Amino acid sequence: MTHDDDRPEAPDAWHLTRRAHLHHAAALATGCVGALAAAHQPGPPASPVRVPAAETPPTLMKLQFRVNGKPQTLMVDTRTTLLDALRENLAMKGSKKGCDHGQCGACTVLVEGRRINACLTLAVMHDGQSVITIEGLSAGDQLHPMQAAFLKHDGFQCGYCTPGQICSSVGMLAEARMGMPSHVTADLQAAPGNTAVLSDEEIRERMSGNLCRCSAYPNIVAAIRDVAGARA
Ligand code: FES
Ligand code: FES
Repeated sequence: MTHDDDRPEAPDAWHLTRRAHLHHAAALATGCVGALAAAHQPGPPASPVRVPAAETPPTLMKLQFRVNGKPQTLMVDTRTTLLDALRENLAMKGSKKGCDHGQCGACTVLVEGRRINACLTLAVMHDGQSVITIEGLSAGDQLHPMQAAFLKHDGFQCGYCTPGQICSSVGMLAEARMGMPSHVTADLQAAPGNTAVLSDEEIRERMSGNLCRCSAYPNIVAAIRDVAGARA
């Protein structure tokens, strides 16, 4: 007996192989024809050519405003946020970039006396306006009362949120003095101006846009209550 005796009958084996080969060839040919046909079908309309943003030349605009009482003139890309203009163009790093999405309040500054998230507004929108940052609250070595109260009550831990907390609390007390109610104000007829009556709940609600990852909230509220009472 030879090895050939163990093999299938040669003609059938070759026959099957040849048949399988023909099937494969037919399948391949069909695929190729299909592919060729598809290649000659009209495709979807070409989308308009888009220039990547990085290649789009920036539009510059002259911006003149006052920052902490000092006139400033900048040529800025119109897409620059107020926060980036302060931090990158004017090298004022006191205003912090936490989320850059309006969610944490670390970038809070005062524009025309009103608190605002500097990451959510374009610098060119504030042409001719006055901006106060944490650097502008103190008078030389003399701390703003709110800064002193934060120190006194230990209203911070890492300090990253603190510039925004302090600017926001200054703006918040100004709002309360003007009689602007909050979501939890019970008496909308109460005479405006008396910030001493602000409850802890009021202070927490009015400061709810400023997050502190260190959870220094009780001490922040104590600091604000201190200043609110002192100024009443
Ligand atoms: Fe502006 Fe967070 S950095 S809200
Ligand atoms: Fe650390 Fe507020 S003190 S985030």
